[in-house]
Amino acid sequence: MRCGVGQSTLSLSVGDITTRPADAIVNAANRRLAGGGGVDGAIHRAGGPSIIRETAEKYPGGCETGSAVVTGAGDLPARFVFHAVGPVWHGGYRGEEARLRSCYRARLNLALRHGCGSIAFPAISCGVYRYPLDLAAAASFEEVASVLNTSPPLEVEFVLFRDGVYAAL
Ligand code: APR
Repeated sequence: MRCGVGQSTLSLSVGDITTRPADAIVNAANRRLAGGGGVDGAIHRAGGPSIIRETAEKYPGGCETGSAVVTGAGDLPARFVFHAVGPVWHGGYRGEEARLRSCYRARLNLALRHGCGSIAFPAISCGVYRYPLDLAAAASFEEVASVLNTSPPLEVEFVLFRDGVYAAL
């Protein structure tokens, strides 16, 4: 699926984000930036050890929930990895939706600040952090579209690992 929003394009695909030649790909990381499973593990495996070396050197204090740090992309076809920490789902009572929205909005602004023309997102928080897919889909899609309505041109791709995630969006 691909559509135009403002001067930008927004697309959804099923696949592995580590294969995407976007200027920036977003990692669903943890606060320690210690690597992990899911998309985090996939990015570090495919990108090689330079990525975790760089996070350890530049960001020894890790990264707060909702924030992101930037590294190179090692062996990946992207230029940058934005390591973002999404909210853990606690039933929706701890501001999870606002935090998830802000995660997407802030990463788009980060991409623009780094001169990126394209950025690829996984379904942040929808794995280990248990955010319900349908709720995450509605919030993230709406938030990205609202930024793109007024932003300079950007190609934004949601790369979803499984068909079920694609269907939710
Ligand atoms: N490409 C795209 N999407 C992927 C890939 C991949 N290679 N691998 C997994 N995914 C999908 C999962 O299927 C899920 O829909 O990414 C989504 C996010 O799931 P997680 O990776 O578990 O991320 P999150 O829920 O934000 O949890 C973050 O998990 O791995 C740890 O270190 C990470 O502690 C952090 C936590």
